[in-house]
Amino acid sequence: MYRHICTAIATVLDSNLNFVTSEIVQFDTSLPHYKTKDGVYRDASVDGRIVSPTWMWVEALDLVLDKLLKSKLDFGKIIAVSGSGQQHGSVYWKNGSSSILSSLDSKKQMVDQLKDAFSVKESPVWMDSSTTAQCKELENAVGGALQLSQITGSRAYERFTGPQIKKIFETHPEVYSNTERISLVSSFLASLLIGGYACIDETDGAGMNLMDIKKRLWSKVLLEATAPGLEDKLGKLAPAHAVAGHIAPYFVERYKFNKDCLVIQWSGDNPNSLAGLTLSTPGDLALSLGTSDTVFGITDDPHPGMEGHVFPNPVDTKSYMVMLCYKNGSLTREDIRNRYCGSSWDKFNDYLTYAKPLNVPATDGKMGFYYKEHEILPPLPVGIHRYILENFTGDTLEGVTVHEVEQHFEPVFDEARAVVEGQFMSMRGHAERFGMPSPPERIIATGGASVNRSFLYIAACVFGCEVYTVHRADSASLGAALRAAHGWLCSTKGTFVPFSCLYEKKSGNTSLKCKLEAVSDKNLVNKYALMVKKRLEIENRLVEKLGRI
Ligand SMILES: *[C@@H]1O[C@H](CO)[C@@H](O)[C@H](O)[C@H]1NC(C)=O
Ligand SMILES: *[C@@H]1O[C@H](CO)[C@@H](O)[C@H](O)[C@H]1NC(C)=O
Ligand SMILES: *[C@@H]1O[C@H](CO)[C@@H](O)[C@H](O)[C@H]1NC(C)=O
Ligand SMILES: *[C@@H]1O[C@H](CO)[C@@H](O)[C@H](O)[C@H]1NC(C)=O
Repeated sequence: MYRHICTAIATVLDSNLNFVTSEIVQFDTSLPHYKTKDGVYRDASVDGRIVSPTWMWVEALDLVLDKLLKSKLDFGKIIAVSGSGQQHGSVYWKNGSSSILSSLDSKKQMVDQLKDAFSVKESPVWMDSSTTAQCKELENAVGGALQLSQITGSRAYERFTGPQIKKIFETHPEVYSNTERISLVSSFLASLLIGGYACIDETDGAGMNLMDIKKRLWSKVLLEATAPGLEDKLGKLAPAHAVAGHIAPYFVERYKFNKDCLVIQWSGDNPNSLAGLTLSTPGDLALSLGTSDTVFGITDDPHPGMEGHVFPNPVDTKSYMVMLCYKNGSLTREDIRNRYCGSSWDKFNDYLTYAKPLNVPATDGKMGFYYKEHEILPPLPVGIHRYILENFTGDTLEGVTVHEVEQHFEPVFDEARAVVEGQFMSMRGHAERFGMPSPPERIIATGGASVNRSFLYIAACVFGCEVYTVHRADSASLGAALRAAHGWLCSTKGTFVPFSCLYEKKSGNTSLKCKLEAVSDKNLVNKYALMVKKRLEIENRLVEKLGRI
C-alpha cells in the first residue's frame, strides 16, 4: 500500500497482544528544521528525484522513544521490538561507521553522533522515479522484464533499491567506493537498535530487484549488473522472524530497556501491513480500498508477471505474498458518482441496489472499464470502455456477443454497478493470474471505502468468499509489533512457529478482531467467474491495441 510516509509511529502491545499505547512523530511538524514536505524533498532540478534526509529518521527514532518515556512506559518490560520501514528506501553508511554505531554514548542524542556516518546524506525513497535508464539495464542483464520478474518477483521499477544503487555507483563512483554498508530503511533502523549492521530481511529485500525470491538469496547476475563489490556492502539476508540482535547499550542506559530485549528483523511497510491484518496462510486475501486500491494475499505458488509484485511471506518461511496496486481506486468511483449520481454517495448506493448483479436484465450483461488516466494494472489505454454482453444470462459464454457502446449505460444507474463490479472483477482476474488461490479462503477489507457494506457484498460475490473488516489506525505499525511477538516466540521455542499460533488462543484481545460483513451468493459467484473470463479477454485485446499504437 504505497502512501506518503510522513510519520514515525510506535505501537506497544502487552502479552495478550492488547494495545497498550502508541506515539507518533510527524516529520514535517515535529522535526521542522529538516524542512521536508510529506517527509521528503522533491528535487525540482533533477527529473523525478525524491529523497529524505537520513538524519531525520535517526532523530525521529530518538524523539518517538522520548515521547514513550514521558508517557511513563516501562521499557524494562519490553521483551522484543521490531519495526516497519518504508519499502525500497535506502541508507548508505560511510567507510568506518560501524565503529561509531557500536559505541554510541547514551548521554548524547544519537543524531549528533552520526553526523559523519553516511556517505549519501539524502536517502532515495519509494517516490523517486529518476532511474529509468538503470531499470532497462537490469532487465537487459537477465533477458527482459518478464525474466527479471520471474527471478526477483517484480520487473524493474524506478523506486526499487537495485536501480537506485546502480545510479549512485554510475553517477558518484567515489561515494559508492566510500560506502561500507547499504541498508534498507528497515534494516537501517534495526541497525541503530542493535548497535551494529543488521541483515536485510528477505521480504523487504524482494523490493530491490536484486534477490532471487525462490532461493531467498542475492542473485549473482543482478548484483554484478548493478555495481562491483555489492554483495559485501549488502551483507546477508535473514527471514523476517529472525532475531537481529539484542538491544544496544545506548537504549538500555538511556531508556532503561532490559538488556535481554530482542530486536527482531525489521521489514517493509507493505509486508508489515499484511501481518497487521493477520493474514498468514495461503488463500488469505486483503483488499485495501482507498485513494489507490491495493490487493495483497498469500499463496504457495506465485506466478510473477509484468504488473504486480511477489515477496516472500513475512510471517512464514515458505509461502509468498502477492501484491497488486491500482493507482486510482476511490478516485475512479468518485468520478462516476459525480458524473452520474449527482455527486452523492447515498444516490450511488441506491443506484447500486436498483441495478441487478452483473447488470443482467432479461438477456444482456454490462461491463465497464473506467480509466481516465493511464493505469498500471492493467496497462490500459486511457479511456472509458463500456460493453454490452448480448445474450449473457450468466450461465454460459456460448452464444454471447460483445458490443462496445459509445454513451453511458441506460439506465444510467447501471454505471454505479459497472464501476464497482469492474474493479473487483479486475482484482480477481489479476490475483488469479499471479497465482492466488481461487476462491480465497477469506477476504479482509480495509481502507476508507471498506465502510461501504454494498461494496463488500459485491466483493464477496465476485470473489466467492466471506468478507471481513478490520478497522485499524495503522496496520503497518501493529504488524511490526505482532511480528516482534512472533519473532520472540520462534526464538524462545528454538524453531519456527506458525504466526497464527500467536493469536488463536488470545480470543479475548481487542487488537486483532475482524468482523464478518458479507457472505457470497453461490449462484452469483459462477456468473461472475464467467464475466471475469470475458473481461480478461477484452482487456488483453485493449492492451494489445495500445501496444500497436
Ligand atoms: C572504503 O573501504 C573499502 C574497503 O575497505 C576500500 O576498498 C575503499 O577504497 C574505501 N574507500 C575510500 C574512499 O576510502
Ligand atoms: C486518477 O487520479 C488522478 C489524481 O491522482 C486524477 O487526476 C485522475 O483524473 C484520476 N482518474 C480517474 C479515472 O479518476
Ligand atoms: C441472442 O439469442 C437469440 C435467441 O436465442 C438469438 O436469436 C440471437 O441471434 C442471439 N443474438 C446474438 C447476438 O447472438
Ligand atoms: C459508501 O462508500 C462511500 C465511499 O467509500 C462512503 O463515503 C459512504 O459513506 C458509503 N456509504 C454507505 C452507506 O456505506
